[in-house]
Amino acid sequence: MKVLVVGGGGREHALVWRLARSESVKEVIAAPGNAGIARDARCVPVGAEDIEGFVRLAREEKPDLVVVGPEAPLVAGLADRLRAEGIAVLGPSAAAARLEGSKAFAKQLMHEAGVPTARFVVCRTLAEAEEAIARFGGQVAVKASGLAAGKGVVVAESADAAKKAARAMLEEGRFGEAGREVVVEERLQGEEASMFFLVAGERFLRLPTSQDHKRLLDGDKGPNTGGMGAYSPAPCVDEQTAQRVEREIVAPTLARMAEMGAPFAGVLYVGLMLTEEGPKVLEFNVRFGDPECQPLMARFAGDLGEVLAAVARGEITGKEELPWDARAALCVVVASRGYPERYEKGQVIRGLEKVEEAGAIVFHAGTARNEAGEIVNAGGRVLGVTALGETIREAQQRAYAALAHLDWPGGFYRRDIGWRAIAREEN
Ligand code: AMP
Ligand code: GLY
Repeated sequence: MKVLVVGGGGREHALVWRLARSESVKEVIAAPGNAGIARDARCVPVGAEDIEGFVRLAREEKPDLVVVGPEAPLVAGLADRLRAEGIAVLGPSAAAARLEGSKAFAKQLMHEAGVPTARFVVCRTLAEAEEAIARFGGQVAVKASGLAAGKGVVVAESADAAKKAARAMLEEGRFGEAGREVVVEERLQGEEASMFFLVAGERFLRLPTSQDHKRLLDGDKGPNTGGMGAYSPAPCVDEQTAQRVEREIVAPTLARMAEMGAPFAGVLYVGLMLTEEGPKVLEFNVRFGDPECQPLMARFAGDLGEVLAAVARGEITGKEELPWDARAALCVVVASRGYPERYEKGQVIRGLEKVEEAGAIVFHAGTARNEAGEIVNAGGRVLGVTALGETIREAQQRAYAALAHLDWPGGFYRRDIGWRAIAREEN
């Protein structure tokens, strides 16, 4: 097969890397790709937002399968356009991508389908938001309904902070259109985990559990980011809980989507809070998580091209057993100093071969080559250094030992990725 991967981040590098190692895959094309992806795929300069560009590229290249990494092109209808060209796509229609593209839609659907999630109110005015904040006793999360690259959620420390967040979104245009509608929901307590499902309508295959670290700083402190590290499996999700998620969350959600005439296809990401009352949905996404995809691909032990093509063509029963490495995998994200605010691009990154020689896989995110051919940073999150181990502790030790060889003073990374799972392992 010839496979086209849409996107150019760490998640897409992990997908490309595993696809390039699949028996069934002869060629991988990535657009736009990045400096690391270029080692495993032919990169074509089409921006991930350029729907027309992708339709043209697909007509020219006639790929057997397109795997869409990021959410924005899915919400904008890329999968519909490609399917209309007769091309197999891993990714939902625009109608089904509303599960991520509109938090108001997702919450309403969960409500109708009886899926456990935080109680909520959808608000269009500040007065409505203030009433909702008071109703939940000031203990709320305030969320821009539309796409905001993971930055549109404020878990408020007080009712005043919640009101301020709601005002910024509804009246001051923070997040633009995405913040014109706001979801105010009660604050949930518990540990978070991510679960991914490969979906064809109402049939689905569960992937191993994982957990990411959204906060910038050690101890899960500081602002939210796209994700500073991740590992798989997430030991806080036991088999019984995973089955409960399938039964109480995934099956009714997919049934409701089908009933609405918007059947889901592609990757369903269920962001969970494990509360005392059981698992509840924090959010749905319609794609792999980044960086959760990196440890998942490090552990996948089969022919990824074959599996993703079968899902894209709707040819799964839901009973297939996917092959996984029994070992744990852990990914540490290296970001540009200053991220998630301002940072300087174009800094030369050295030592990457040594990091790999030390036994880690280096997935590239925001990297490019300068005129001299050197690898430089070109984004906020830059590398995902990933290692396997018998335990999460061992995977962590290997990832950090390899990272010691990185020579990039302008980069930084958290020192404690995996801490919750390791505390659990060692208890
Ligand atoms: P979301 O994009 O909706 O997953 O929100 C981003 C992050 O905000 C989540 O990963 C949680 O850490 C936090 N969060 C979201 N909703 C809630 C909630 N209802 N209660 C507590 N924390 C939340
Ligand atoms: N790691 C969080 C996300 O991909 O949304």
